Amino acid sequence: MAKLLAFSGSLRKDSHNQAIVTCAAQGARAHGAEVTIIQLVDYIAPLFSEDVEAELGMPDTAQAFKQLLIEHDGVLIASPEYNSAFSAALKNAIDWASRGAEGEAPLAAFRGKTAQLMAASPGALGGLRGLVSLRSLLGNLGMHVHPTQQAISKVHTLIDEQGVVSDEKTIAKLHSLGKLAAEFTAQLHDK
Ligand SMILES: Cc1cc2nc3c(=O)[nH]c(=O)nc-3n(C[C@H](O)[C@H](O)[C@H](O)COP(=O)(O)O)c2cc1C
Repeated sequence: MAKLLAFSGSLRKDSHNQAIVTCAAQGARAHGAEVTIIQLVDYIAPLFSEDVEAELGMPDTAQAFKQLLIEHDGVLIASPEYNSAFSAALKNAIDWASRGAEGEAPLAAFRGKTAQLMAASPGALGGLRGLVSLRSLLGNLGMHVHPTQQAISKVHTLIDEQGVVSDEKTIAKLHSLGKLAAEFTAQLHDK
């Protein structure tokens, strides 16, 4: 069974991106994946600096996030777009998780794992531009980034008062993305 880690790059409690990644996770579960959904806000670490690392080592939160990545076969990531880029919180979490440890394979949290990308925004492009650089970064870290992604525009009109995706067409798109992630990861890891 494919094991997927699902999270958004938003630290906001009513995050639209958290809503869409949760919906995609349902699609992945319906197609056989075991999915762990986390909130990145629970894994906040100081801005990465080699000085901080040399003085204090890896913060517990960053270590816990890295460990989760290591324990899963792939990720479902929904990133907000801030000024046409993916979020700084996500970049910081990735930077910490990219740091090695003695006896560990290089980039153990990323290399050979899958990534399924999505974004949501109240704007017309749905956060699409931020995914361009996120896709490139994750590929450079050795992840298999699936070519299919979703950028959900006008997302505030597609979510109900409980913060759950309620628009049928959007649910279908996100479930389909989750299905792809489950199948792609299972194939790649021969599960
Ligand atoms: C500083 C800032 C910059 C933003 N830049 C963009 C942008 O470039 N493109 C876009 O579609 N939305 C932009 N937004 C709007 C975000 O997409 C919106 O706040 C979104 O809801 C954030 O994601 P979340 O709901 O998951 O927290 C920006 C918002 C902020 C606060």
